[in-house]
Parts: sequence; C-alpha cells; structure tokens
Amino acid sequence: MLALFLVLLALLSLSNCHCHKEATISELRLAFSHNRVSSRQLVEFYLGEIKKLNPVLKGVLEVNPDALYQADRADRERAAKVPRSLVGLHGIPVLLKDTIGTKDKLNTTGGSFALLGSIVPRDAGIVSRLRKAGAIILGKATLSEWSNFRSLNAPSGFSPRGGQGKNPYVLSATPCGSSSGPAISVAANMVAVSIGTETDGSILCPASFNSVVGIKPTVGLTSRAGVIPISPSLDTVGPICRTVSDAVYVLEAIVGFDYNDAEATKKASRYIPYGGYTQFLKPGGLKGKRIGVIRNPFFVFSNGSNLAQVFEKQLQTLRHEGTILIDNLEITNLDTILNVTASGEAVVTIAEFKIAINTYLKSLIKSPVRSLSDIISFTQKFGDIENITNFGQEIFLASQATNGIRDLEKAAITNMARLTRDGYEKMMLENRLDAVVTPGANISPVLAIGGFPAISVPAGYDNKGVPIGICFSGLKGSEPTLIEISYGFEQVTNVRKVPTFLH
Ligand SMILES: *[C@@H]1O[C@H](CO)[C@@H](O)[C@H](O)[C@H]1NC(C)=O
Ligand SMILES: *[C@@H]1O[C@H](CO)[C@@H](O)[C@H](O)[C@H]1NC(C)=O
Ligand SMILES: *[C@@H]1O[C@H](CO)[C@@H](O)[C@H](O)[C@H]1NC(C)=O
Ligand SMILES: *[C@@H]1O[C@H](CO)[C@@H](O)[C@H](O)[C@H]1NC(C)=O
Repeated sequence: MLALFLVLLALLSLSNCHCHKEATISELRLAFSHNRVSSRQLVEFYLGEIKKLNPVLKGVLEVNPDALYQADRADRERAAKVPRSLVGLHGIPVLLKDTIGTKDKLNTTGGSFALLGSIVPRDAGIVSRLRKAGAIILGKATLSEWSNFRSLNAPSGFSPRGGQGKNPYVLSATPCGSSSGPAISVAANMVAVSIGTETDGSILCPASFNSVVGIKPTVGLTSRAGVIPISPSLDTVGPICRTVSDAVYVLEAIVGFDYNDAEATKKASRYIPYGGYTQFLKPGGLKGKRIGVIRNPFFVFSNGSNLAQVFEKQLQTLRHEGTILIDNLEITNLDTILNVTASGEAVVTIAEFKIAINTYLKSLIKSPVRSLSDIISFTQKFGDIENITNFGQEIFLASQATNGIRDLEKAAITNMARLTRDGYEKMMLENRLDAVVTPGANISPVLAIGGFPAISVPAGYDNKGVPIGICFSGLKGSEPTLIEISYGFEQVTNVRKVPTFLH
C-alpha cells in the first residue's frame, strides 16, 4: 500500500513535471496509461536536462529536431488507443550511439568530422525495430571517436565532434568508451534509455564506470546493418540503461533477423526464446544458478582499494541468494586471450575493419569520404589542427596496409576459435556453469573472440566514488539465464545511486 502511494506520488510529480525523478520504462508506461505524463512532457523534460547538464557532461552529440513531433504522434496514438501504443517502447525516448545510422535529420558520424554531412541509405536495422516498437529517437550520443579504432593513444570518451565525455559520478574519472555517451546520458537522466555497440568492452566498460546496466548481446542477436563497423565477426549492438528491466525491454525490441545482416542474424535468431526476454525478469532468479568465479587476474585490485571488500560482499550476497559459486576457476591460455596481439584478435579486427568500413562508406547516398584511405587523408589534413586530436591514427594505417582475409588472418581466426574452445567454453561445460562472474569489464576480450554475451550491473563505488559494475557472462544465447541472474542481483543489492558530479 505504501509502495503504491509512493508510485502515485512519483507519477504525480512527473505530471507536474518536476520530472527530476528517474523513471523506468514500466513506471513511464503506467504514467502514460493514467494520463499522468505525456510523451511530449517527457521529451521536454529530457531536452531541459540536456540543456542543463550536457555542456559539462558531453554525453549527447545531437538532439533530434523531430523528437517533439514524434512525441506528439505517440500521444495522439495513445489517446486514440491504437493497439501498438500499449506495447513495446511506445512513446519512450531513446538515445543512440553516433555509430548507429538513422535516416532522418540526425547525422551519423562516429564522432568524426570526416562523416559530417554523409547521408545513410536507410535506418540501421535496430533503428527500424525501435521505430516499429514506437520509440522516440531523442538523438545521438557521444563516443570514443570511431569506436576507439583510430589510435591506441586516443582518450577514452573523446571525439572531435563531441568533445570529452565526463563521468557524472566523478568528473575527473574516465567515463570509459567507446559507448561513453549512452552510459553518461542515462546515468545523468538526460534520456530514458540508450543503445551502444561493442566489439571488445565498449558496452560493458562504460556501463561499469557510469553505474548503469549494459547488455552485450551474443554476436548476431541484434543486427549490425547500418552501424559504422569495426569487425563483423565481433561487433554487436546492445542496450545501456539504468535498470536491468529497462535494458531487457530495449533488448526485446531490437533482437531478430535482418535481411541486411542476414547471415549473422539468421544464425543467432534461434537463441531468441519463445515469449521473449521479459519473462526472465522474475524474483529469485539467482537461486540454484551455478556461477564460476575467475579470480586470477580479474579480482586483483590496486593497493588500498576498497573494491576487494566490495566484491567479497557481493559474492557473499550471491551465495546467500542460493547461487552455487564455483570458486577459483581458471581459463586455459587466459594470458594469450587477454593479449589481443597474441590471440589473433588484433589481426582479425584490423583486416575486417578495412573491408567493413569501405563497404559502409560505399553504401552511403552521399559522403565526404568514400574509403578508409579517404578517412586517413582527412585525419592527416585536419586531425592535427586541433591539438587535442593529434594523437595519431596508427590503427587506421595498420588496417589500410591489410589486404583482405588471407593466410595470416585465417590462422588468427582459427587461433581465436581454438582459444575459445579450450578456454572459456571448456571451463563452462566442464563445470556445468550457468554463468561466470567477474568485476568491471576486464573479461571483455574473452567474450569478444567468442562472440559471447554478458550483462554489467552496478556493484559498488571505490573510495573516490567511482562506480564499478559486476559482469555476468555466459555462452552464446545464454541471455535468458544472464537476465535472471542480473535481475536477481540488482533486486537484492540495489547498488545504483544517482550521480553526484564530484570534482
Ligand atoms: C548535422 O550536421 C549539419 C552540418 O553538416 C548540421 O547543420 C545539422 O544541424 C546536424 N544535424 C543535427 C540534427 O544536429
Ligand atoms: C600495499 O600497501 C601496504 C602499505 O602501504 C604495503 O605494506 C604492502 O606491501 C602493499 N602491498 C602490495 C601488494 O603492494
Ligand atoms: C603479447 O603478445 C605479443 C605477440 O605474441 C608479444 O610480443 C607481447 O610481448 C605480448 N604482450 C604482453 C604484454 O605480454
Ligand atoms: C595548442 O597548442 C598550442 C601550443 O602548444 C597552445 O598554445 C594552445 O593553447 C593549444 N590549443 C588548445 C586548444 O589546446
């Protein structure tokens, strides 16, 4: 009863649009259905927050000039009781990483001036799905330029177009990239939900550092068509949101077969459970789950850090909730897997990038650059004018020097498959694990080379107030189990606090 009263109070305050309270998708749906808030009010609220917070945080790159129009349309459809207005993401504002193509007034540039003014042939596959689900495209989010595939010296969360994104918890801390803007923006409540992309760590790391939830889906579960690529073998698109349930609603809307990313999405669509993903948002999801703990090297923290205690406490919580922890497991050849040069990951991504980015650039209706070679010339010419962007482009140059998938690349692909089979897969199967638990996002190369899914959930804060997530990962298609575990963990721990903008 008290809970109901509090919900009503929250909804009333939304309707008067002291909307400072963070709202989840289910709260918003309820508020919509009681006419306590309209999509227009919601968009106006977020636009106000962006105006107020974004000059410092730099999470949002562009706001959609049509967002209010889309909100009004959603409000009209709801008033007319159009069936689709009761389901999906109807009337919910979504922010997209600037690598995700939209055929509208927004630019799609990967944060680079090189692609400013380019025109995409169509919406990205996941954007078509978002529009079908009734979502409002609020805008584009900042990122590490080119999803951090230009130079190893590039600052995390920086792009020439978007500037340096800031961590809303501790402004001097990294927001982590490359999907920094989506994580910053949902953390600071500048939008309801957001979407990022990951090749190796780009969803999980920003989610961890900004105390939000990130889902890295199995490669192919979500279409990559129309997304500025790095490596088709590793790339995936996934939600970054404040809660597990928000992230699952978004996942539900964007998974599935896409003709324009046919091979991967067809193969992965068999993982989509009948009845969808929201059925796994249930209490008690931790009970009976077998979870492997890989301490070496993931549970190693700097001297004096409180994080060792934070994670011991969270492991204790898992045990207390009926999880069976299999402690001190090891992944065979982990040193090799975590070294992208040794595993073959660098060889494969560098070669695939050239092919994939050239294909992307050629598909554009209009573009200032038409090839990786054009991008390199552009960066050479303009990249050094602003001091902050003169950190080089050695990954681009290495990629340009490749010549397709030849013997070296084929050997690297074979090596990654072998490392995965003998490493993560073998450990999972031999120990009959439902999932693996590790702090932060440092396990990401293991997941990258295997195409495996993971969910990062807020786990705690270090002595300075910088957030860290807990990462639950599993074999391909294990999203239902990972959702049960993540939701169960989130519900009992309730770690996430609103950001405090510490200096
Ligand atoms: C897209 O970029 C152009 C510059 O080429 C700019 O004029 C326009 O405002 C941008 N669109 C949005 C929605 O910000
Ligand atoms: C951690 O710091 C303490 C006190 O400064 C020191 O005694 C100890 O050797 C350090 N341990 C490591 C592993 O650096
Ligand atoms: C990573 O592997 C490469 C090639 O196998 C090797 O030369 C390099 O020293 C390794 N790096 C580290 C940090 O171990
Ligand atoms: C660029 O570098 C020059 C010389 O080091 C310096 O004077 C100037 O302030 C810098 N500009 C910016 C925008 O950092």
